[in-house]
Amino acid sequence: MKRFFLENYGCQMNVYDTEGMERLLVESGYARTETPAEADVVLVNTCSVREHAEERALNRLSELTRLKDQRPDVVVGVTGCMAQRMGKDIKRRLPRIDLVVGSQALPAVMEGISEAEKARARGGKHEPYIGPETLDHYLPPPTARGPEPRLKGFVTIIRGCNKSCAYCIVPTTRGPEVSRTPAEIVAEVEDLVAAGTVEVMLLGQNVNSYESSGVDFPELLHRVGAVSGLRRLRFTTSHPRDMNRDVVWRMGTAPRLQPWLHLPVQSGSTRVLAEMNRDYSLEHYLDVVDASREAIEDLSLTTDIIVGFPGETEEDFEGTLRLLERVRYDTLYGFKYSPRSGTAAAAREDAISGDEKQRRLAALLEVQKRISHERNQRFVGRRLEVMLEGRDAKRGNWLGKSGHNKTVVLPDAPHAIGDFVEARIDRAEGLTLYGTALGRTPE
Ligand code: 5AD
Ligand code: SF4
Repeated sequence: MKRFFLENYGCQMNVYDTEGMERLLVESGYARTETPAEADVVLVNTCSVREHAEERALNRLSELTRLKDQRPDVVVGVTGCMAQRMGKDIKRRLPRIDLVVGSQALPAVMEGISEAEKARARGGKHEPYIGPETLDHYLPPPTARGPEPRLKGFVTIIRGCNKSCAYCIVPTTRGPEVSRTPAEIVAEVEDLVAAGTVEVMLLGQNVNSYESSGVDFPELLHRVGAVSGLRRLRFTTSHPRDMNRDVVWRMGTAPRLQPWLHLPVQSGSTRVLAEMNRDYSLEHYLDVVDASREAIEDLSLTTDIIVGFPGETEEDFEGTLRLLERVRYDTLYGFKYSPRSGTAAAAREDAISGDEKQRRLAALLEVQKRISHERNQRFVGRRLEVMLEGRDAKRGNWLGKSGHNKTVVLPDAPHAIGDFVEARIDRAEGLTLYGTALGRTPE
């Protein structure tokens, strides 16, 4: 039996795509291996969002193509966003690559593998690139029924992005928006739940622009939340531009929705937001934050921030620090601006030095570290429902998640992975909560 090795970089949508490709490979008779040296087909699903992500993938791929020194028959391929962005040019960086399948052409991955194998058998050359023009269907969803039930499942509801944030490569790599039908999404969630999944995360570059058969995103949330047997519902990523008080209220009342919202702001300066083409003001963003906190009790809020965008002054950056104090996020993901060729911002001079970006990032994370710690103290003395997700064998602890997506550490007890327990929180440190399990919670 032939074997495949498949490695993933990037966002949750890439994880979902990787699992979809795994399904195609398994259905074509390939078995999965965790060891590239044993594999007949080696694939890396890549990300383009920052240069660093591409560099890592390119280094990894060039290391993997060296497998061909010993076994010239192995097929090494690159898939996903970097493959889409670089296309045939990737050959210049990776001369020994056998297969290039962009994120918009993933359903054709098996055809690509079989062509590469045939070319190998003939000993001839072949064109490794499969472009989006081959796309007439989409990847099948990952199989819900694996060897073990997966507690948490991802479901992509909308692909692509129609926005044009000045820094972002995603509209180029993922293409224009396409929403899946509500019936298809609900059926996939039902399938996951029947196979043992209790938590579902709906995915999209911008879930708020979801629209299909007259169903918008809040309506979809209500339909998915109503699936019997589902216990936790989450989604990512929201775009503040496509949210308002009414939308937030309709979203917030969906059944089983957890008190966790990722709401990327990118900058705390209205001027920089305009330059980024985010198409909202700080006032609008803050109104969405306030509405979300009114609609969803005890909401845990997270965000993304880019430092060092072209033209960001010290004063703009201080505006971002003030925003952190105003919103008091539970946690944030901070990034140094990375120019991506082909985006609007790449035409501007990237004048802020690497050191200065690093200084701003460190200052940002320092402020947030304190706020995260302070925010977490609100849980001490409270009782939270915790889903057990794993064990720390060395310390004999259970590790779980609260609805707010906080890691909760509980002392050893006769529980099973997937149990929902009620826990009293005894202390909070950094991003982690420590508590005592009081017993299982009812379904
Ligand atoms: N440079 C730095 N960060 C970026 N992001 C997107 N594009 C870039 C870029 N060119 C960040 C944004 C986005 C997150 C997924 O990655 O903050 O929300
Ligand atoms: Fe990376 Fe964006 Fe592609 Fe996800 S969609 S893999 S974050 S470039």
